[in-house]
Amino acid sequence: MILVTGATGDIGGEVCRLLHDAGTPFRAMCRKQEQINAFREKGIDAVLGDFDRPDTLTGAMEGCESMLLLSGPSPDQTDREIRAIDAAKAAGVSRIVKISASDSNLRTPVPWAQAHAHIDHHLRASGLRWTILRPTAYMQNLLWFKDPISKGVLPQTSGKGCASWVDTRDVARVAVTVLTEGGHDKATYFLTGPEALDMRDISRRLSDVLGRKVRFVNLPKSAFWGLMRAVGTSQWMAKGLAVQFADVVAGHHAVDPTSEVERLTGVPPHDFEQFASDYRAQFVKAA
Ligand SMILES: NC(=O)c1ccc[n+]([C@@H]2O[C@H](COP(=O)([O-])OP(=O)(O)OC[C@H]3O[C@@H](n4cnc5c(N)ncnc54)[C@H](OP(=O)(O)O)[C@@H]3O)[C@@H](O)[C@H]2O)c1
Repeated sequence: MILVTGATGDIGGEVCRLLHDAGTPFRAMCRKQEQINAFREKGIDAVLGDFDRPDTLTGAMEGCESMLLLSGPSPDQTDREIRAIDAAKAAGVSRIVKISASDSNLRTPVPWAQAHAHIDHHLRASGLRWTILRPTAYMQNLLWFKDPISKGVLPQTSGKGCASWVDTRDVARVAVTVLTEGGHDKATYFLTGPEALDMRDISRRLSDVLGRKVRFVNLPKSAFWGLMRAVGTSQWMAKGLAVQFADVVAGHHAVDPTSEVERLTGVPPHDFEQFASDYRAQFVKAA
């Protein structure tokens, strides 16, 4: 039995869909009853589990051999996932596949990348079997900017910096492969899309697929921070995003493309045009 945490999110949701379609036994962990009901209505086993309520974790993990470990970025992420690793060990889970990040690093100024580094080290030292997946920036992050994109503007602060953007559907496919196959213990995989693209490349591709001009506007870091705050992003998240794009990506510190998605799954990753075309309606119809 596999326990899928983060099951209501982007990657976890896709992992559940793929496992369900393949008829693989698994359990989706959710923190609200209505989320559990929604899974059960689709014929999927679901259980209550909240990383912030350790009392719920033992029951959620009982009888599971493997766990996909995933939670969203938050100042509490390190505590949450370390608590989950310790609970899994106590509950008899023998293997954890963790969604980390390509820029996971103890010394980085990017808060979630530093959180992942602490969690990755804790997992490696746990005595459990582990695999760490380290994806680059998600193509789906572009949906944060779907309103300005629908009006012909892509605001960013990453200058000429490139990222090897990866589609979350490909991250989910790798997670399913690793969760359902042997031979991935003590492995760390850097997951990327097929090419490194800067924001000018992205705006050109969006223009082609949407059939209307999308112009990249490179904002100063402080203006990008202000924009993020204006659209309701928390102070912690806005500061982290500004640092990540203005310092790390603009400073050319992001990883180059790898061939891990195709090597592990046998299918090449989505390229940016495919992503933009699959999500075209969201970019076009945004307010
Ligand atoms: N964005 C990027 O470019 C990027 C790149 C590399 C790595 N990453 C990493 O990828 C992960 C995010 O993946 P994603 O986009 O699939 O996540 P997501 O869509 O934001 O979903 C987060 C999931 O975590 C669950 N969760 C949050 N707090 C929880 C708690 N206290 N207890 C139990 N579950 C909890 C959420 O449940 P609810 O529905 O109840 O909120 C949701 O299912 C993060 O670790 C991030 O650092 C992101």
